[in-house]
Amino acid sequence: MRTMEWQNGTVITIDQTKLPLETVTLKITTVSQMAEAIKNLRVRGAPLLGAAAAFGLALAAYHSKAGCTSELLAELEDAAQVLKSTRPTAVNLFWAADRVLAKAQGFSGSVEALKTLVIQEAQKIADEDAEANLAIGKNGAELISDGDTILTHCNAGELATVEYGTALSVIRAAWKQGKKIKVIATETRPLLQGARLTAYELKRDGIPVTLITDNMVGYVMHKHLVNKVIVGADRIVQDAVVNKIGTFTVAVLAYEHGVPFYVAAPKSTFDLAHTSADVIIEERNPTEVTHFGAHPVAAPGVGVLNPAFDITPLKYVSAIIHENGVYYKKDFPNFKTNTRV
Ligand code: MRU
Repeated sequence: MRTMEWQNGTVITIDQTKLPLETVTLKITTVSQMAEAIKNLRVRGAPLLGAAAAFGLALAAYHSKAGCTSELLAELEDAAQVLKSTRPTAVNLFWAADRVLAKAQGFSGSVEALKTLVIQEAQKIADEDAEANLAIGKNGAELISDGDTILTHCNAGELATVEYGTALSVIRAAWKQGKKIKVIATETRPLLQGARLTAYELKRDGIPVTLITDNMVGYVMHKHLVNKVIVGADRIVQDAVVNKIGTFTVAVLAYEHGVPFYVAAPKSTFDLAHTSADVIIEERNPTEVTHFGAHPVAAPGVGVLNPAFDITPLKYVSAIIHENGVYYKKDFPNFKTNTRV
C-alpha cells in the first residue's frame, strides 16, 4: 500500500501523529497544508518528504489560476520556497523540489502542458521511490541470515517512504525469503517513531518485534541480544550518515561490540557534494523533551536541547545498501570525489 498518493488534485496520506491508535486519512489540497503536515510530522521520513515536496508542487500547479507559463513558474518557485523552509535536514525534500522545479524551468509550452509536466514529474518521483525501496530490500536481504536479531532505530519503514520502507524493506525481504529473523525496535525519544510506527508496521506484518527504550541499546548489545543493526538515513554526505537523533549512539555501541551497522537509503538521500559540517541539524520545539505526549514531565522553564538528528561518521558504518547494490567500507573514500553516486 502506498503511504502517499495523488488523486486528481488531492494528495492522500495518513496522519502519522495519530498512529497507531487511530488511522486518520489526510486529504491535502494546498501547499500550506502540505507544509503544515511536514512541519508537524504528519508526514515524515526522508524519502516520503521527497514525495511530499514533489506533490506539494503538483498541488500548486494543479490549482493554479495563472494565465501564462511565466506566472505559473513564479508560483512554483514560491511554493518550492515554502516547502523547502519546513525541515532542513532530509536532503530528499530539497532534491525533489529542485528536480520538479528544474523540469518546469526548462519547459516551453502552454500553461496546461506545464501543469501536466509538473504533476507527471511528481508522480515519477513517487514511483521511483517505491521501485528503489523494493530494490533496497532485495539487495539488503543478502546481508541478513536465518536466525538474525536486527536492531533498528526510528522508523525507516513503509510510513517513511512511498512504499516498502528502506531499513524495513530489507527486513521484509529477508522475512519473505523465509529467514527466521527477529527485530528489536528502539522507541526513539522524543517523538517515539520506533514505538508508534516501526513496532506497529512490524506487528501488523507478523514479523517478531520487541520494543526497547533508547537507553537499553547498550544492555542488549552487551548481552548479545542483537547481531545486526539496520537504520535509514536523512542525508548521506562525504564523511557521515545523518539520521534520527540516537543513531550515532547505536552505531558506536555496535562498533564496540563488533555488530555490523548497516544503513539503507535510496540515491535520493545521498548528498555527496557536502560534508557533515554543511548539514543543518533541525532543532525542534523544547516541549517535545519537557513533555511526554501532552503531559509535562520536567520543571517549568528548564533549559532544553532538542536536535532531531545526529551525525554518524562513516568509520562506524559497515555498509550502505542502496537500490543499485551495496557500498562497503572500501567504497566510502569515493564519496569524496563523486558528487553523484
Ligand atoms: O523526524 P523524522 O521522523 O522525519 O525522522 C526520520 C528518520 O530519521 C528516518 O530514520 C530517516 O528519515 C530514514 S526513513 C527511510
